[in-house]
Amino acid sequence: MHPDKVTVPEIRSRKLGGPKIAAVTAYDATLARLLDVGGADILLVGDSLGMVVQGLPNTLSVTLEEVCYHGRAVARVAERAHVVGDMPFMSFQVSSEQALQAAGTMLKEGAFESVKLEGGVTIAEQVRRIVSSGIPVMGHVGLTPQSVHAMGGFRVQGKGENAAARVMQDAKALEQAGVYSIVLEGLPADLGRRITESVEVPTIGIGAGPHCDGQVLVCYDLLGMYRDFTPKFVKRFAELGDAVVDAMGEYVAEVRSGAFPDADHSFGMSARKRIGEPTGSRPVVDATPPGYGPASDDDA
Ligand code: KIV
Repeated sequence: MHPDKVTVPEIRSRKLGGPKIAAVTAYDATLARLLDVGGADILLVGDSLGMVVQGLPNTLSVTLEEVCYHGRAVARVAERAHVVGDMPFMSFQVSSEQALQAAGTMLKEGAFESVKLEGGVTIAEQVRRIVSSGIPVMGHVGLTPQSVHAMGGFRVQGKGENAAARVMQDAKALEQAGVYSIVLEGLPADLGRRITESVEVPTIGIGAGPHCDGQVLVCYDLLGMYRDFTPKFVKRFAELGDAVVDAMGEYVAEVRSGAFPDADHSFGMSARKRIGEPTGSRPVVDATPPGYGPASDDDA
């Protein structure tokens, strides 16, 4: 195990001090490995995968099987980060039994270390049942994307005193049900602060202001891979979208001109093609070994 592996008790303890929690979504092994090495405390396999991986307009049709599939890929490579899985729409709303079954499947088949549920007062019973079975639960209140139709779109929640009080009650209900942290999404910054000050578990904000105990962003947002629309709460920490388009343009141009592949990127050409370069006594091996490694030192 990684010496600094992030655990549930470690996340809880951040409420009392220590660095703020840096969480990010992840859906595949290649990016998850980079995000883990980059220092993410939490990798969340969000049901946002429906939108950012599958290209759907919302998260509602994501299945338990799909979340588990992406969970296995992320968990396989995450050495330090804690790996959380989002419980999909209608995998937990029906009853506590259904919720516990689904949460168990997420740990057994998705390799998750904890699960996240959207909702507050109305799902507190489900949370209590899952937690009492030894499965850690992260809550999620405010803008809950699984309620997109009830909210009339992806809208900031908790505006006005009544609405704010309802979100506060949701957070308190989750705290009492035993969650180890709560995602606060799409809330006025002041409400994010008030909830953070009112609960004893860490809050992790996304569009809920700077006072939360941590922050979470969708990985493609923070990496600048969505270039058409950037919500107000998203900061792009890189412009990978531009980098991908530029790289692709260069690749297309070099394929068309014949500049790629050159001798350096072809098996068995390097030693013979590099004019004036001694080949030594080693033979050039043309066979491609498993995994497409270099055919010989000359090809490396
Ligand atoms: O599904 C998701 O990615 C999420 C985060 C944005 C909090 O729930």
